[in-house]
Amino acid sequence: MVLGFNRVIVWPWIMTKGQASTHGPLKLAAMRILGIESSCDETGVALVQTTGAALPSLLAHALFSQIEMHQAYGGVVPELASRDHIRRVLPLTRQVLAEAGAALADIDVVAYTRGPGLAGALLVGAGVACGLAAALGKPVLGVHHLEGHLLSPFLSADPPEFPFIALLVSGGHTQLMRVDGVGRYELLGETIDDAAGEAFDKSAKLMGLPYPGGPGLARLAEQGQPTAYKLPRPLLHSGDLDFSFAGLKTAVLTQSQKIGPAAHTEGAPERADLAASTQAAIVEVLLKKSMRALKDSGLQRLVVAGGVGANRELRAQLNAACAKAQVRVHYPELHLCTDNGAMIAMAAAMRLQAGVQQACARYSFDVKPRWPLHELGDQPMTAGAAG
Ligand code: KG4
Ligand code: ZN
Repeated sequence: MVLGFNRVIVWPWIMTKGQASTHGPLKLAAMRILGIESSCDETGVALVQTTGAALPSLLAHALFSQIEMHQAYGGVVPELASRDHIRRVLPLTRQVLAEAGAALADIDVVAYTRGPGLAGALLVGAGVACGLAAALGKPVLGVHHLEGHLLSPFLSADPPEFPFIALLVSGGHTQLMRVDGVGRYELLGETIDDAAGEAFDKSAKLMGLPYPGGPGLARLAEQGQPTAYKLPRPLLHSGDLDFSFAGLKTAVLTQSQKIGPAAHTEGAPERADLAASTQAAIVEVLLKKSMRALKDSGLQRLVVAGGVGANRELRAQLNAACAKAQVRVHYPELHLCTDNGAMIAMAAAMRLQAGVQQACARYSFDVKPRWPLHELGDQPMTAGAAG
């Protein structure tokens, strides 16, 4: 069966063991894909439905954030994260199925985050996904976490169309990409040190805000003056599309030492000013580089994804600049900006629809804690299992 998907002719199919090259394309008329996310400190499970070539839709999703548990330590404790994923993943799966009015037997494919992320945390999702799929006799599919973020705006009420420029801003990554289709990602620039989310989090820590500091710093910044302190805009004029945020963190440290205790005292106007100045520096760099990528590529569409994409100031400034440049800008729904299972199920669904990956009934698995997105194209066309 040949299906049209975004004007590209694709061959969607599900492979079963031993049928990799001979098995004809199976119907993709209505498939239910369970997605499991466990790469860091959020356990996410979701059920997505594909209907022919139409954009997949989200039937239900559930999330458990471990943030409170890690806050006592000022950051994610990997072993605690893994153990908590074990506790949450099956109850969340039951919850999702109940909300979707579906039974285990209704699942056609089980997708999971294969990487990048914390090895132990990834192993929980991969192990549960493969165990569940084996028990159900259904195929599995390993998904790249960043591709999940990248494709999450397709779940929004205003989904993008290919091609577009993507600004991927999460806790561990800051990248600009040209996206021509599912699996067709060209890296245009990325951070050479800290990620934008890391810059938010580390600066927030210096201001005495709890982990993860990004949302807290953004809230505090609303009460401050963005021009109060002069902070560096690293690589703003580098002429390329790379980023660097490590120097900004050092500048925030130096500035906070100059300010003294007020820099981390609740209610102090200096602290709000420092937060606003930090946010302004990060947002300006992300904005200018994104606009440059659009101009260089001649593309008229921008997609912003990843946790930092929830930042209101970033959205406001991008919206204004894109309106002026006649560029359409798309975001995931706010609650799907940070890690979740919906984006994993969605990425799996779109990969299956586009025919760039098959789900396999082969249940040995590996995880890829380090996995650059542009290496996705080099992956075998299977579930992503090592065996
Ligand atoms: O995508 P994500 O949930 O996890 C990773 O894959 O890394 O992103 C988490 C990051 C954290 O650094 C968090 O502080 C940041 O996104 N973040 C924000 C906001 N909401 C989340 N940063 C700035 N403003 C926000 N509103
Ligand atoms: Zn993420």
